[in-house]
Amino acid sequence: MNLLTSLIAVLILTLLAAGIAFSATLSFLLTAVLPYAAFTVFIVGFIYRVVQWAKAPVPFRITTTCGQEKSLPWIRTNPLENPSGLWGVIGRMALEIFLFRSLFRNTKMDILQKRPVYGSAKWLWFFGLLFHWSLLIIVLRHLRFFIEPIAPWVNGLSAVDGFFEIGIPTLYLSDAAILTGLSFLFLRRVVVPQVRYISLFTDYFSLLLILGVVSTGLLMRHFFPADLLQVKNLALGWVTFSPVVPKGIGTVFYIHLCFVFVLMAWFPMSKLMHMAGVFLNPTRNLANDNRMRRHLNPWNTPVKVHTYEEYENEFREKMKLAGLPVEKE
Ligand code: HEM
Repeated sequence: MNLLTSLIAVLILTLLAAGIAFSATLSFLLTAVLPYAAFTVFIVGFIYRVVQWAKAPVPFRITTTCGQEKSLPWIRTNPLENPSGLWGVIGRMALEIFLFRSLFRNTKMDILQKRPVYGSAKWLWFFGLLFHWSLLIIVLRHLRFFIEPIAPWVNGLSAVDGFFEIGIPTLYLSDAAILTGLSFLFLRRVVVPQVRYISLFTDYFSLLLILGVVSTGLLMRHFFPADLLQVKNLALGWVTFSPVVPKGIGTVFYIHLCFVFVLMAWFPMSKLMHMAGVFLNPTRNLANDNRMRRHLNPWNTPVKVHTYEEYENEFREKMKLAGLPVEKE
């Protein structure tokens, strides 16, 4: 049901965008108003979510420990998997952000001879990494539309990405990679019964939206070319706050844009916010120095305590008379 609803939602968006291409007023809305509206929702929503997370109190070091903690000098520690200082945390976060270290530990469980057996499961890690890196490369390559003159490194990136010069126009490796990664992520949710069971509308919708952006992009590059001069004028118009409404730029381009703007507006209210969340994750971004420092909760309300020492001082004689053991005579 969730899959069907999200498929219908994406289909409606496609038809809507295709319809927009035929109306001058709606084209104006899509190319001159919606970009700013979607960008504003994205930025405001993004900041709102980050501020909400940042306001959550974290009085203790609640790190996930994946290696030996620093303690006595003769016990070998694992500074990356259980960091006790800033550099260790930076290293650990870098491993997580660039290489998805925690996903690399992914395991799968099978019942063999009535016993649970755990094995390694690296496919999700591999295709997840493939998808995210290629998405980053594609977004960076798109900068060629938004800056003039185009920075040399953007051209360099495109050249490396199209290094094998397969076909005309060249097939970018990142395009093939993102399609492979996305297909795996999508099929995993559809084919594996356990994952399908826990998949929600938001999971399918996010994947389908990105799949929509990517497939329309590929269609434009290889089958229905858009007028790239007009695209560049449009994009430069957005960043200089003087948008120019393009004419006859191509229906596929409108669908591409429509998906991008919906994705931007959808981003802050979806799970895609893990992009920011990964940085704010207290189980990974804190140093585990619990054995070196005592962390006190600053929000503790003062409590009147009665220590055992005070208790014994008060009742020592009575305890002795009753034959109870005491610590001090
Ligand atoms: C989330 C943001 C976006 C993603 C993931 C995305 C993805 C893609 C992909 C995968 C392609 C295939 C070719 C290539 O990789 O260059 C493509 C092509 C294209 N995209 Fe996007 N896109 C995004 C945003 C935009 C925006 C905002 C524009 C408007 C300026 C745009 C305009 C185009 C054009 C004109 C092409 C065809 C390029 C060519 O013919 O070489 N895209 N896009």
